Amino acid sequence: MVTDDNRDEILAALDYGDLKVTGRLVDASNATLFGEITVGENSFNCIYKPVTGERPLWDFPDGTLANREYAAYLISEAMQLNCVPPTLLREGPFGFGMVQLWIDIDEEIDLAELYRKDLPGLRNLALFDVVINNTDRKIGHLLPTVDGHIYGCDHGVTFHSEDKLRTVLWQWEQFSLLDSEIKTLQILETELSSQTGVLIQQLITQEEFDALKVRVQRLREAKVFPSPSPDWPAVPWPPF
Ligand SMILES: Nc1ncnc2c1ncn2[C@@H]1O[C@H](COP(=O)(O)OP(=O)(O)O)[C@@H](O)[C@H]1O
Ligand SMILES: [Mg+2]
Repeated sequence: MVTDDNRDEILAALDYGDLKVTGRLVDASNATLFGEITVGENSFNCIYKPVTGERPLWDFPDGTLANREYAAYLISEAMQLNCVPPTLLREGPFGFGMVQLWIDIDEEIDLAELYRKDLPGLRNLALFDVVINNTDRKIGHLLPTVDGHIYGCDHGVTFHSEDKLRTVLWQWEQFSLLDSEIKTLQILETELSSQTGVLIQQLITQEEFDALKVRVQRLREAKVFPSPSPDWPAVPWPPF
């Protein structure tokens, strides 16, 4: 698991380690490559999504999937949720792109059962998804580990300036936010006005950045998880 003690080391290795592509995830819609990063004697697996492999999306004409994946990681860090595996942008064998630590999931866990549960790790992801306006939280984008942590992946279609939340995690609809969740949003607001905000503004459009701040403020004022929108398919299809 990624902790405060090993995060910097992992990020440094992702950044300067030797990146080799070892496979391709065949069911992926864009060029989602499986890679191996080597630093000295050590190596670990990663996901590598080169920008050149991105297909144009009519509803996301600006920016890149890779930038939004990185911005999503920065939000997870700013909210202190640790719900996105270490992610960064770098050069690779197929050019500039997003690189993310591969998480070995607990194969014993049935994701079709997991996603409906009321678990703190899932609830964190649900809150995170409202903030980043995730349009693609599928069951297969949940990564539970053997030590009980739950990461999420595939955050390329996020941060749209219009509300497009589409997720399988609706079990907290209209539930009151916990004090700790409100505190998390306050921390995020402060971060968006400082260092994290500066970084994120380089990754998404100004309109998207303004909408992000509005979503955080709205959530903090409403103090409840939102309900599915009647104007938009609020659950991804297929859900996996
Ligand atoms: N960092 C990761 N660690 C472990 N598994 C991952 C990671 N990123 C992606 N995956 C797995 O690979 C699948 C495809 O990756 P995804 O990011 O969803 O690609 P695409 O954008 O093409 O849908 C995911 O559904 C998940 O099962
Ligand atoms: Mg996917």
